[in-house]
Amino acid sequence: MNASNILVTGGTGSLGSLVVDRLLTTGCNVEALSRSKRPGTVQGDLLTGEGLEQAVEGIDVIVHCASSPTNPRQVDVEGTKRFLQAAERAGVSHIVYVSIVGVDRNSFYPYYGMKLKTEQIIEQAAIPWTILRATQFHEFVLTLIQFLDRLPIMLIPKGFLLQPIQASEVADRLVELALSKPAGRVSDIGGPEVWTAADLARAYFKAEGRKRKVVEVATPGKIAQAFRTGAQLCPNQKFGKVGWHEFLNQTLHPEMN
Ligand SMILES: NC(=O)c1ccc[n+]([C@@H]2O[C@H](COP(=O)([O-])OP(=O)(O)OC[C@H]3O[C@@H](n4cnc5c(N)ncnc54)[C@H](OP(=O)(O)O)[C@@H]3O)[C@@H](O)[C@H]2O)c1
Repeated sequence: MNASNILVTGGTGSLGSLVVDRLLTTGCNVEALSRSKRPGTVQGDLLTGEGLEQAVEGIDVIVHCASSPTNPRQVDVEGTKRFLQAAERAGVSHIVYVSIVGVDRNSFYPYYGMKLKTEQIIEQAAIPWTILRATQFHEFVLTLIQFLDRLPIMLIPKGFLLQPIQASEVADRLVELALSKPAGRVSDIGGPEVWTAADLARAYFKAEGRKRKVVEVATPGKIAQAFRTGAQLCPNQKFGKVGWHEFLNQTLHPEMN
């Protein structure tokens, strides 16, 4: 299918900006939705509904990457509802939504519960849809580790498992889906390796040439248990080729690449 007009929500974010860059090389007319008035974006706010009607006018396909982990009920769930109403009225023919692996298996985690609700809203919409679930991005894991590194003791939840993937590889898959027919829930995608969170942090310090003790702490509750038992993994769908070591090397030592 050759979609000419594509709107990427969250097109200014880590993943969405990579989707926009890739779509621009395909000859499509691509726009990024943003709350800000920065050049090259269409202004719109999922929280208030402002600008959404205008943003979807003439759009064939939407790649929906916008999200607010701090206010997901209002932005992701309610925002997607009002966005879909505008998109239906405008005659959009396909919406591609990016979600997270295991949102159904760990829906007690509030953000994941809201992502699952958002998926369900999209599945019930009149617009044909595609939903892709991906594991945590390398870039996101690195940001978390660097945040924890600022604290006096490097504490990491014991036994948490992750299968990080390069955001650019998720963007590649989203673009492929956006340029194809609506496909419903497609196979989950994850990175090439499963790690404990503590080992990811240790590998980071090693790549930085630093010695820092990583202290693993036992965390109670069903959310933590789900993270320990791999609810957020898809070990049989190792789509990503770039591993954590390679990502660290590219990111921390770009001069050597
Ligand atoms: N990060 C991960 O590890 C990961 C893993 C799997 C799936 N995902 C999913 O991938 C998607 C993108 O994640 P990301 O980490 O790339 O996000 P991000 O960098 O935090 O970007 C979030 C985007 O959402 C937009 N946004 C936030 N509130 C909005 C509102 N009220 N109205 C309109 N736009 C709004 C922001 O646009 P402006 O600020 O310009 O308005 C921004 O472009 C999310 O759905 C996330 O759940 C992420």
